[in-house]
Amino acid sequence: MISISSSEYARRRRRLMNEMEPGSIAVIPGAVAQRRNRDIFYPFRQDSDFYYLTGFCEPEALLVLVPQREQGETILFCRDKDPRIEQRDGVILGPEAAVASIGVDDAFPVVDEDEILPGLLEGRHRIYMTMGEYPSFDARILGYVADIRARESGGAQPPGEFVSLKHLLHEHRIYKSPTEIQVMRHAAQISANAHVRAMQKVRPGMLESELEAELVYEFMRSGAANAAYPSIVGGGKNACVLHYINNNCALNDGELVLIDAGCEYQHYAGDITRTFPVSGRYSEAQKELYDIVLAANLAAIELCRPGEHFNAPHEAAVNVMVEGLISLGILHGDKDDLIADGSYLVFCPHKSSHWLGIDVHDVGDYRFDEEWRPFEPGMVLTIEPGIYIPSNDKTANVPEQYIGMGVRIEDDVLITKDGHEVLSSAVAKETGAIETLMQAL
Ligand code: GLY
Ligand code: MN
Ligand code: MN
Repeated sequence: MISISSSEYARRRRRLMNEMEPGSIAVIPGAVAQRRNRDIFYPFRQDSDFYYLTGFCEPEALLVLVPQREQGETILFCRDKDPRIEQRDGVILGPEAAVASIGVDDAFPVVDEDEILPGLLEGRHRIYMTMGEYPSFDARILGYVADIRARESGGAQPPGEFVSLKHLLHEHRIYKSPTEIQVMRHAAQISANAHVRAMQKVRPGMLESELEAELVYEFMRSGAANAAYPSIVGGGKNACVLHYINNNCALNDGELVLIDAGCEYQHYAGDITRTFPVSGRYSEAQKELYDIVLAANLAAIELCRPGEHFNAPHEAAVNVMVEGLISLGILHGDKDDLIADGSYLVFCPHKSSHWLGIDVHDVGDYRFDEEWRPFEPGMVLTIEPGIYIPSNDKTANVPEQYIGMGVRIEDDVLITKDGHEVLSSAVAKETGAIETLMQAL
């Protein structure tokens, strides 16, 4: 199994501390368990920033970084061991074992936070934190600061500045390390295998949910923790609903099915979309529309290389799609005018990319001031152009054979020194190759 080493987590913490202002402190809370109903909780998913810095997956945890603190710079608060809770929920690491296991300088029971944390905050002039993620945590920190302020006349030194951790940490997360790239390659491979499985299992009359089950089966049997986001399995016109997750309709002969699904492996996301015929053969009209989206996907991927900027692939994709929509008689007029006035957005309503990593819509700036950010090696993004033609008053003049179709083709792309690597290339996307794959069971 590929996994991030504890020395890599330590390097990440060191790098962050090196960039923090002298005399500052960072507080990074773990995620809060989410109640599903009554006493049942959703499967716990660790906060992505906290996970990035610790690899620690238990709830009720807090990482505190205090650079240059003599008694220890990295402090973890975590649950105490408790046989009663461990009998119900499984092993708790506990503060004692956490020091060696997580590689922090010190660890304390989470119940001692109220007692210890104010002392760590006092005398630090700046607090780094991800504000707004966990309102009750933010309120507690503000409460501690208020308490210190109340003792100011007695010599206490309250922190005076709050700074979003995002500026430092999310800039780190955007560049994937060699091990992260290995993990993401694997996440994409498992996700690709799941798409191949769905292509080979689909039959007219099946429910969309049956295909979702095939995806989940492939994810989980491969060691992934289920899906990185709710899988989209949209047959026919359901493909036109961008985030369709009901997945409860029958898949009909003669229609396309759009699957947008990826696993979460070692906390890293795959995010792949393929659109294929339920019957195993694309009709002429389906192929015409599909090949335009495919050409857009390929043109966009071509521009995934250092020296290009984040929006260049999207601009290329839009160019290809608008040209194609004109050639099919779906759009009318001059290509540049249709792009400039936004009328193409009726059929191509979304952007073609986002960063990918521990979060499926990963962190990291897309622009610097007014300029799109340039690509650099180690960045990972999706390329996902799509054309959707729902039946409504805006599509009344579209040739009938295209009505009700939605096509998206999404790949995961790593920027390399010389260009790119398509991490999701293990699942075919040319119509002929998909048809061959669908017959090969
Ligand atoms: N699955 C969400 C997306 O493609 O962005
Ligand atoms: Mn997707
Ligand atoms: Mn995506």
